[in-house]
Amino acid sequence: MFAVWPEFLRPFPLPKVVVGLLTMALSALSQVPVPVPINTDTSSLSTSLFKNNNVSFHNKLWTSGLCLDSNIANSRLKKRFVVCMSVQQASKPKVGVSPLSLEDAKEPPLHLYKNKEPYTATIVSVERLVGPKAPGETCHVVIDHGGNVPYWEGQSYGVIPPGENPKKPGTPHNVRLYSIASTRYGDSFDGKTASLCVRRAVYYDPETGKEDPSKNGVCSNFLCDSKPGDKVQITGPSGKIMLLPEDNPNATHIMIATGTGVAPFRGYLRRMFMESVPTFKFGGLAWLFLGVANGDSLLYDEEFSKYLRENPDNFRYDRALSREQKNRSGGKMYVQDKIEEYSDEIFRLLDGGAHIYFCGLKGMMPGIQDTLKKVAEQRGESWDEKLSQLKKNKQWHVEVY
Ligand SMILES: Cc1cc2nc3c(=O)[nH]c(=O)nc-3n(C[C@H](O)[C@H](O)[C@H](O)COP(=O)(O)OP(=O)(O)OC[C@H]3O[C@@H](n4cnc5c(N)ncnc54)[C@H](O)[C@@H]3O)c2cc1C
Ligand SMILES: *[C@@H]1O[C@H](CO)[C@@H](O)[C@H](O)[C@H]1NC(C)=O
Ligand SMILES: *[C@@H]1O[C@H](CO)[C@@H](O)[C@H](O)[C@H]1NC(C)=O
Ligand SMILES: *[C@@H]1O[C@H](CO)[C@@H](O)[C@H](O)[C@H]1NC(C)=O
Repeated sequence: MFAVWPEFLRPFPLPKVVVGLLTMALSALSQVPVPVPINTDTSSLSTSLFKNNNVSFHNKLWTSGLCLDSNIANSRLKKRFVVCMSVQQASKPKVGVSPLSLEDAKEPPLHLYKNKEPYTATIVSVERLVGPKAPGETCHVVIDHGGNVPYWEGQSYGVIPPGENPKKPGTPHNVRLYSIASTRYGDSFDGKTASLCVRRAVYYDPETGKEDPSKNGVCSNFLCDSKPGDKVQITGPSGKIMLLPEDNPNATHIMIATGTGVAPFRGYLRRMFMESVPTFKFGGLAWLFLGVANGDSLLYDEEFSKYLRENPDNFRYDRALSREQKNRSGGKMYVQDKIEEYSDEIFRLLDGGAHIYFCGLKGMMPGIQDTLKKVAEQRGESWDEKLSQLKKNKQWHVEVY
C-alpha cells in the first residue's frame, strides 16, 4: 500500500528546499501522489509558528510546508506515510488514510467504553488555537486511543478528569462530553487518535471581576493543562444527532457554529476536502458559518481558508466576529446576522433538501430561531411548519451545550 520514497531523495537530510521542490516537481510530473514521511507530533512546529502569531493551526500538517519540513521530521518518524501535496497546481490534493476498514461498519460505534470502565488514552499534544487578543483560551487536544475507541465524524467522547468528585467524596468526577474535532482517521490519518477542541472554563467573581481559580472548570482546565504522555480517561463514543449523512455525496450541508461548536464541522470538512476516502467522494456544497469574538478567536481558520481556495465550488465559509464587525443596524455581528444576510439562499437550499447543523453554546439558538422565524414570515411562510418539516425530513441537527 505504501509507495516508496524515491531512492534518489535518500538519504535524509537533504536541504529542506531541495526536498520540497523535488517533491513538488515529482508530483506535478507524474500526477502520482508522492508519499513523504510525516511527523505526527507537530507540537513543536505549530507552537513555534504560533509564537510568530500568524497561524491558525495544523495547516502545516498537509500543506507543502510539510514537504519542506520532512527532514526535521526525521527524528520522530513513524512508519507511516501520507501523500505530500504539490502547491498550487493540484486542484484537490488529498491525503491518504488508513485503515480503510473504518469505512466498513453499517452503524456508528456507540458506548464502547462506559463511565464505570473508561478507556485510558494518552495525550499526544495540546495546542493553543487562538491568538493573543482572543478573550479566553481554546486548545486543540490530540488524544491517542490506539485505535481502540473508534468513532465517526460528529460524535463525542466523554472525559473523566482525574481526582475526586467534591460533591460525592470517594467517587470519580462526573464525565464531561466533548465533540470530536477530527475525522475517524484522526489528525495523523491512521485511525489511532481523536482531537478535541476545548475551551477553558474560567470563573470570574462577579463582584471583583477577578478570576477565581478555585472555581475554574475542572475538566476543560485539566485537558488544556495536560502534557504529551499524560493519561486521560475517556468514554464513548456517543451521539448520533451530528453524524454526517453520507447517503448522497452531493448533498448540501449548512453548518452553524459558535466557538468550540466548530469541532464536529472540522471533522466533516476534513473528510470532505482533505482526506482521500474511496467510498466518500464529496461533490456537494458545504457552507460553514462560524461565530467568534474577534479575528484572534477564529478556530482552524487556515484549514478552512485553504478549502475555500481549493474547492470554491463546493465550500463556502462565512465568519461573524461579534466584537469586530457590525451588523446592518450597527449592533454586534452574530451568526444569525450572517444567516439573515444569506437567508434567501439558505431557505432555497433547505427547500432543496439541505441539511442544517447547529453546534456551540445553548445561548446561540434563541437568536438564530428568532432570525429564521422573522425571515420565514417575511417570505410569507410559517416557520413552525417549516421547522417541523425539516425535523421530519431529518434535515435539522442541533447539538448545543
Ligand atoms: C454534547 C456536548 C458536547 C460538548 N462539546 C464541547 C466541546 O467540543 N468543547 C468544549 O470546550 N466543551 C464542550 N462541551 C462542554 C463540556 O462538556 C464541559 O461542560 C465544559 O468543558 C466545562 O466543563 P469543566 O469540567 O471544565 O467545568 P465544570 O467544573 O463542570 O464547571 C462548570 C462551570 O461552572 C463554573 N463553576 C465551578 N465552580 C463554581 C462555583 N462554585 N460557582 C459558580 N460557578 C462555578 C466553572 O467555571 C465552569 O464554567 C460539550 C458538552 C456537551 C453536552
Ligand atoms: C504575518 O503575516 C503577514 C503577511 O503574511 C506578515 O506581513 C507579518 O509580518 C506576519 N507577522 C508575523 C508576526 O510573523
Ligand atoms: C454527484 O455528482 C457527480 C458530478 O456531478 C455525479 O457524477 C454523480 O453521479 C453524483 N452522485 C450522486 C449519487 O448523485
Ligand atoms: C443587529 O444588532 C442589533 C443589536 O444587537 C439587533 O437588534 C438586530 O436585530 C441585529 N440585526 C440586524 C439585521 O439589524
